[in-house]
Amino acid sequence: MRLPLLLCLLYYFLCDVDGLKILVCFPLPVKSLSILGEGVVRNLLVAGHEVTYITVYPLKNPPKKNFRQIDISSNTAFVAGDHMPSIEFILNNKVEKTPSRDIQLFGQEAARMTLNHENVTKLLEDPNEHFDVILSDLLETELYSGFAVVYECPMIWVYSMGAHWQVLRMIDVAPSPAYDTDYLSSNTIPLSFAERVDELWTRIQWQFYKTFFTQPEERRIYEAVFGAALAKRGRALPDYEEVIYNASLIFANEHDAVRNRPSTPQNFKYIGGIHVEEPVKPLPKDLQDLIDNSKHGVIYFSMGSFLQSKTLPRKLITELLQMFGEFKQTVIWKFEDNSLVDVPKNVQIVNWAPQQSILAHPNVKMFLTHGGLFSSIEAIHFGVPTIGIPALFDQITNVNKAVLNGYALKVELSHDLAKDLKAAIGTMLSDDRYTKKVKELSALYHDRLTKPGPALVYWVEHVVRTRGAPHLRSPALHVPLYQRLYLDLLAIILTTTFAFVLLLRRLCKKSNATKYDQKKTN
Ligand SMILES: *[C@@H]1O[C@H](CO)[C@@H](O)[C@H](O)[C@H]1NC(C)=O
Ligand SMILES: *[C@@H]1O[C@H](CO)[C@@H](O)[C@H](O)[C@H]1NC(C)=O
Repeated sequence: MRLPLLLCLLYYFLCDVDGLKILVCFPLPVKSLSILGEGVVRNLLVAGHEVTYITVYPLKNPPKKNFRQIDISSNTAFVAGDHMPSIEFILNNKVEKTPSRDIQLFGQEAARMTLNHENVTKLLEDPNEHFDVILSDLLETELYSGFAVVYECPMIWVYSMGAHWQVLRMIDVAPSPAYDTDYLSSNTIPLSFAERVDELWTRIQWQFYKTFFTQPEERRIYEAVFGAALAKRGRALPDYEEVIYNASLIFANEHDAVRNRPSTPQNFKYIGGIHVEEPVKPLPKDLQDLIDNSKHGVIYFSMGSFLQSKTLPRKLITELLQMFGEFKQTVIWKFEDNSLVDVPKNVQIVNWAPQQSILAHPNVKMFLTHGGLFSSIEAIHFGVPTIGIPALFDQITNVNKAVLNGYALKVELSHDLAKDLKAAIGTMLSDDRYTKKVKELSALYHDRLTKPGPALVYWVEHVVRTRGAPHLRSPALHVPLYQRLYLDLLAIILTTTFAFVLLLRRLCKKSNATKYDQKKTN
């Protein structure tokens, strides 16, 4: 009689994580990041959890059950208008392509706006609100870990890119720059001497700026916002440093078909591909017919959502259209308005493209892309070779990696784009090496124990079940650099040796002197 009861109780304590209350926070005004946020939310809802979603891009048709959105769409204000880069602007100006300082400031500003947003303040000030776990996007700022303090629950980061030092340093040690490049770097592994020095220098600059400028400011924001929220709950605010290095887990939007990743600790989990909805939604009738009937295959062209094709220079657009017209293949171009004239017969302009459904069609032979993160994952997911035209940020790294992996070609974004692109398309059409390689990687990508959605749900529940998963934490996190490098031992050896040499010299001098004295007296 007692045993079943005990088992029930045990079951209750260990397994009752149905219907967790989860706060999912995707505060950056970057449209592509909401793709990841929505993937996370969708999978948590399917598992029966209750999700509160802080988002800049509220869902148009939100699920009715277990779901609430905190609308912070006014955050787009500070990237709208003049700040939105057009492709023409990038082409004609020397834009710093990887401005590490600016990105720190961007992350910080987004956090400041989010945490002071009236809709978030309402949430923070309500003393009846509680959550079992926080999942937040991580980009260059750790401020959102304050939520875990307010709700006294575990913190999990969801990182939109892969494993590299900037995120790993939050839960483990930062891997060496000798084999771990910065996420904005265009260097590829293995590194030459100059590249190694370059990586080290990038890191020093980033860390310098973070330590002396960004972090002190973030501390002020943390103390103001979360201090107020805790005061309402009658609790004291823990120190910022204690909080930011206290995450239970990091999810990274990468996967095993990516080579040259640094080794990662136990609480770092790959969920790349979680944003892909399976089975993919059916294509709209017109696109379905078009692709079905393309005898020579389809080339799909999209510059993503951040950089829009319509912001290309007019002359270049005309040249591109002409160039596409010379191919037998059907070209589907995601172009955001209807201003185009003289569109060749084989070119189909779409203002909006159901990208995953297009790439899933076996007639689609090639993907011309800006090399954004989600597009890069989808190319591998659906096994379509790519021609990358990177413009900014991680696009450069993504395309370099794809080229290195052998399933992509890279074309510089320049005024010669039409000519260069024509050559690249020609190469790719005449050589099936790229297709073979991407199919091989796609098989590798799909060959995993669990799909990313159920994996995410499992780990979130595991963290809650085990109250923050302390058993997964790396002991290296709290070992300071000087101890890891044994600089203290080195210091002891050097001082002892030095003291010993000094002593020896003294003794020698003394005995010489006595000898001399003795000689003299003799
Ligand atoms: C706050 O949320 C509501 C919807 O709940 C939305 O209509 C409003 O625009 C939001 N406020 C701001 C400043 O974004
Ligand atoms: C660190 O995380 C654990 C587990 O989530 C939690 O119990 C603890 O209170 C956190 N510490 C701080 C200082 O927030």
